Amino acid sequence: MNKGYYGKFGGIFIPETLSFALRELDTLYQDIKNDTTFNNELQDIYIHYVGRPSPLYFAEKYTENIGGPKIWFKREDLNHTGAHKINNTVGQALLAKKLGKKRIIAETGAGQHGVATATICAKLGLECVIYMGETDIQRQELNVFKINTLGAKVVPVSSGTATLKDALNESIRDWVTNVENTHYIIGSVTGPHPYPEIVRDFNSISGKELKDQSIERFEKLPDMVIACVGGGSNAMGVFAPFVDDLNVELVGIEAGGVSDSDIGSASINDGSIGVLHGAKTMILQNNSGEILETSSISAGLDYPGVGPEHAYLADIDRAKYKKVFDSQALDAFYKVSRLEGIIPALETAHAIAYLEELSDINKDKNVVVNMSGRGDKDLYSVMSL
Ligand SMILES: Cc1ncc(COP(=O)(O)O)c(C=O)c1O
Repeated sequence: MNKGYYGKFGGIFIPETLSFALRELDTLYQDIKNDTTFNNELQDIYIHYVGRPSPLYFAEKYTENIGGPKIWFKREDLNHTGAHKINNTVGQALLAKKLGKKRIIAETGAGQHGVATATICAKLGLECVIYMGETDIQRQELNVFKINTLGAKVVPVSSGTATLKDALNESIRDWVTNVENTHYIIGSVTGPHPYPEIVRDFNSISGKELKDQSIERFEKLPDMVIACVGGGSNAMGVFAPFVDDLNVELVGIEAGGVSDSDIGSASINDGSIGVLHGAKTMILQNNSGEILETSSISAGLDYPGVGPEHAYLADIDRAKYKKVFDSQALDAFYKVSRLEGIIPALETAHAIAYLEELSDINKDKNVVVNMSGRGDKDLYSVMSL
């Protein structure tokens, strides 16, 4: 496969001014990714600061309720800051320090990536600026306050739909201007090479743990792993160690929005190939190549593109990608809260909702949902529905 490509997807499509920074990042990462000192430093933060490993929890009442396979939750919601996003920000912040860059920028939709970035910047003493769409600022008020509390600055973005893609555009603009002293921590497996690879690798800690935990808990690999897909970082992280285990079914869940007549945010299900934010991938666009205005009840899935490796896994039929609508996600949000005492993020609730389709699967099978985040950040928006 060509460097930075996943089949026909991926690559580097960016302004020339950023080429040097991407090459520098790639070289450092390839040098350091198997370095013992770097990995020990990373592991130390994962264990003592993030709280890893995250548990693999048997959802007994959910299993009874569905009446099909055994259902397990990989509890990334229990990580420090409440989601999987911290796995990547910790790794990239360490890379930034090695690059000698003291200023960090990031974009955020649901605010989780913003909080995770501001958190590690506080810990490592790095300046931090977070770009966030005004629509998302309104629906994720609590996370905006957290980011400010952590000493980072939130820059509101009012262009376009004032959501994640617009925040990404602004971050790229900032990076072009300040590339000398700034590292851009992209929050998902999106963007130009080497970001999809770096973000996947840092998130794959959840998939690696899951492999060991499933052997420990049920003496074989899971039959199916389900994860929600916005840009696709929690899904790619939990899928990656299983890609070559062909008996493990991989299912990504995209946000369908209100209904099938709505645009939603399901780039693999409803999109076509194009270039967005530096990579060739599946995107939601009209016939003239203009990016469509996506929608989803969950800010973190409300994005018109998807990581190129997911586009590839769909293309070669290694993973399947299904659509879940807002109302189904909301039903799952309440159901898992009431049956298991776990309030999930609205993004995660999309993945949980897919369990309703699985009642015909044999009771001996084991299905794992990656519980990408907790629901605290979404309580205000669910309250106002
Ligand atoms: C809890 C949670 N899950 C999932 C996502 C979607 O991102 P990704 O597809 O990169 O995992 C987000 C994004 O903010 C999130 O906060």
